[in-house]
Amino acid sequence: MPEPPSYPTIRTHIAGLPVAELAGQFGTPVYVYDAATIRRRLADLAAFDCVRYAVKACSNLAILDLLRREGAVVDTVSSQEVRRALAAGYEVQGTPPPIVYTADIFDAASLELVVGQGVHVNCGSPDMIDQYGRLAPGREITLRINPGFGHGHSQKTNTGGDQSKHGIWHEQLGECLEKALKYDLRVTGLHVHIGSGCDMEHLSQICDAMERLARQAGPMIHSVSTGGGVPIPYHDGEAYVDLDAYFSLWDSTRKRLEETFGHPVRLEIEPGRYLVAESGYLIAEIRAVKKQGQNCFYLVDAGFNNLARPILYGAYHPISIVPHDGVTDRPEQDVVVGGPLCESGDIFTQEEGGYVARRRLPEAAVGDWLVIECAGAYCASMGSNYNSRPMAAEVLIDDGQAALIRRRQSFDEIVAGETIPKSS
Ligand code: LLP
Repeated sequence: MPEPPSYPTIRTHIAGLPVAELAGQFGTPVYVYDAATIRRRLADLAAFDCVRYAVKACSNLAILDLLRREGAVVDTVSSQEVRRALAAGYEVQGTPPPIVYTADIFDAASLELVVGQGVHVNCGSPDMIDQYGRLAPGREITLRINPGFGHGHSQKTNTGGDQSKHGIWHEQLGECLEKALKYDLRVTGLHVHIGSGCDMEHLSQICDAMERLARQAGPMIHSVSTGGGVPIPYHDGEAYVDLDAYFSLWDSTRKRLEETFGHPVRLEIEPGRYLVAESGYLIAEIRAVKKQGQNCFYLVDAGFNNLARPILYGAYHPISIVPHDGVTDRPEQDVVVGGPLCESGDIFTQEEGGYVARRRLPEAAVGDWLVIECAGAYCASMGSNYNSRPMAAEVLIDDGQAALIRRRQSFDEIVAGETIPKSS
């Protein structure tokens, strides 16, 4: 298990390169990813037969390409994510399937794509089985099951239980297996994902549920997927989860199934956050320092259009200051960090419900940079054009070299596709 992290409040470098130079070269706001961190986190999961990266966490082509070269396969949730995987060099055919489409519905484009290209489908609703079976009888599928319970770092990321729209309800497994049979679809695996940012207690309960479900499905099952959900320590000094213990639990479940079925059962894990969260840094520039009564605000040029996790979930991200004058010995003060958007909720230091929280950070001035840390997962990929601001640039640092992997959107790109109707 890695040692608990220690997040700095002053930083000068990211992955060995000066932040000032990165900001100067690429402008702000800019996401910077450290390839070495992604490789390290992938290596942590090497005991599993198959690491299937959840593309939604950070879907930049260069990140997908990196993970492909390092041996990870991918889970996708839309036709566009499938096309990203194809563009990053993933094949369609293979064992395990290099690309899986997991969803609760097919829209027209995704159904056409998975049927046409033969992308493996992981069905999360009985209707998906019907719709796929009618067009692609005889193929292999897997089923995503909602085991009747779930957990997440927020109620909004809990994907199990009857409050969740996700997965095939566990009590309907039998009828879904019959449905598959009707179309000659072969159900070769089961998948359970109960939520994102789970605690280990809940994650561990999936094993029992999976064992029960797999026994019900019988020996046609050749793979089981734990889903994702593995948390990372966003707080200073917080412990990493015990992945060895988690693997052991799953490994014994899998071995019991292998014994019963008399053939190997592949064990897949499907992380998003664990692989990429810690690799990412959002660099912003402080553009105003304001006193509002009791509160001191650092206002930066990145907003919730760039990083929405605090406004959506009250999520906590470590924050550091990068002094532009190189003076790192600065007194600290309690501050609130906000962005440029015309909306009060554009605050990076907030609790769930929108309550502004203060953060102890070094004194800073206009022209200093501010880095939002652990920003590799569900940050750039959840970016928007709110207030007509561009999607931020993204940079990948590998072996001391910084490469632009997404340029900042231009105004023309923001309005591309919009037209003013001709008046008659
Ligand atoms: N597999 C499936 C089917 C999923 O729906 C997800 C995440 C994952 C795997 C990966 O979960 P992870 O290992 O990253 O926890 N926007 C939220 C997270 C939403 C996750 C949605 N599904 C956040 O910023 O925390």
